[in-house]
Amino acid sequence: MGAAFWDARARRYATRTARTAEADPLLARVQSATGSETVVLDVGCGPGRFALALAPEVAQVVAVDPSPAMLTLLRRQARREGVDNVTTVTGRWQDVEIEPVDVTLCSYVLPLIEDAFGFLAKLDASCRHEAFVYLSAMSTDAVVDPFWRHFHDAPRKPGPTYLDALAVLAELGIDADVEVVELPVRTRFDGLGEAVRDYRDHLLLGDSPEVRKELRALLSSWLVPADGSLRPPLRSTPAAILHWRAHRRSLLRR
Ligand SMILES: C[S@@+](CC[C@H](N)C(=O)[O-])C[C@H]1O[C@@H](n2cnc3c(N)ncnc32)[C@H](O)[C@@H]1O
Repeated sequence: MGAAFWDARARRYATRTARTAEADPLLARVQSATGSETVVLDVGCGPGRFALALAPEVAQVVAVDPSPAMLTLLRRQARREGVDNVTTVTGRWQDVEIEPVDVTLCSYVLPLIEDAFGFLAKLDASCRHEAFVYLSAMSTDAVVDPFWRHFHDAPRKPGPTYLDALAVLAELGIDADVEVVELPVRTRFDGLGEAVRDYRDHLLLGDSPEVRKELRALLSSWLVPADGSLRPPLRSTPAAILHWRAHRRSLLRR
């Protein structure tokens, strides 16, 4: 998934995640590791829900993302909020050069990365104090698996979860703490048409009248009404906060 993939989805992602950081358990965990002098790095920041929520209480946030559209939305929102201590860096984490910072976070990015070992090694090396990696605690592919089987006549290959991330961290000699939290499912569709477009994208289906008709029929019995819109029939999903102290590791290495 390159930058173009995320550019095309940036606006929708920003709308879905706007103002979700304040009630998200990750924010409180990161805030407990930061103060007014702290420099924070947000790897794969997207439109900046965590970067912008953290910025007012820290010295600086360095926000890295390969998607120019995501970073444009972040900078626009920063201007609206009068936030002037977020620096954006356009590029994949694997390719950018960033000075080590105090606290690093990386939210909902790792399962997209092929070389998780190299990615996490660089994340650890870039961090002087505490690192946080946030990701779904179950493979979200499991949720769309029945739809995938219906259209592709094959099981959906499950994506990695936090257990895989922990195994890679262990290979790196990092014994991360894990906290599994429940996050409300905020996905809402204005109507079946919007839901069909969204699931077609997830399921990598071409656009044809047959596909639209079939998805419409399946989704009309899967989605449930919610305050004038439609939502998937899941109230919450589990997510994992992985955390480790980089300075302790460097002391142990001495
Ligand atoms: C699901 S969004 C998560 C955004 C944000 N961290 C959040 O939690 O709201 C995934 C983001 O990862 C970015 N991304 C994808 N590959 C990346 C890479 N190799 N290095 C850094 N960011 C990457 C995408 O551009 C996208 O903005």
